[in-house]
Amino acid sequence: MNKKIVIGNWKMNPISKKEALFIFENVKKEALKFKKTDIAICPPFVFLPLLERIKTTKVKLGSQNFHAEEKGSFTGEISLKMLENFSIFYSIIGHSERRAMGEDNSLVNKKIKLALKEKITPILCFGEKVRDEAGEYLNVLKNQIEEALLNVNKKEIENIIFAYEPVWAIGKDALREANPEEFNEVCIFIKRVLLDKFGIKNSPRIIYGGSVNPKNSLGFLQAGAQGFLVGRDSLEPKNFLEIISITDSN
Ligand code: PGA
Repeated sequence: MNKKIVIGNWKMNPISKKEALFIFENVKKEALKFKKTDIAICPPFVFLPLLERIKTTKVKLGSQNFHAEEKGSFTGEISLKMLENFSIFYSIIGHSERRAMGEDNSLVNKKIKLALKEKITPILCFGEKVRDEAGEYLNVLKNQIEEALLNVNKKEIENIIFAYEPVWAIGKDALREANPEEFNEVCIFIKRVLLDKFGIKNSPRIIYGGSVNPKNSLGFLQAGAQGFLVGRDSLEPKNFLEIISITDSN
């Protein structure tokens, strides 16, 4: 059985090196206490050199994205090979904020394959924009998963972290929080898709993301979440540590 995992997605925050160090150092100070939970932080690219120097085996680094080519004429982009210079262990792939900028399932698939080839653990984000009464959102999720995993072999799928992030529950403008029952339904559904389509019997880690905070995290864990992808609250060391602590003891 895999350990649970709590991942901080800092997005385009904070603004200063000083703040980045403050958040990371504060998480690092307490991190060793948590024996049953892996911890990762995905900062903006520019802070990776700084944080690489102070990272520990307990608080690993991840990237929020990468370009699918190794190098070349791609102004403003950063490749996975470059990121490997900074000891990243994970990479978020297919976050809804990237999908909103045009990243589609076939690009997500390319990135998943590249990350696996480079031995970087993909954190595959999937989630519907709306929850309709007729259950069409389940088809959306099925497509996202099936297309993201096209031609990925079974053993490798087991190493992927699946992050269910309903788009309507993400960020400060979220429509509302998701509830644990909604997570549980998707968790069962995704396991079924992985079994039917890819023959996966040992379910990989399925985590939850979208307005996760110390108050709502226990419910998701009880509904089967094996960890969290945390946005806003990963910028508040106290809240982030509280979420890790709840995860570690449940
Ligand atoms: P949030 O972001 O926790 O701020 O809703 C989560 C995410 O987008 O990964």
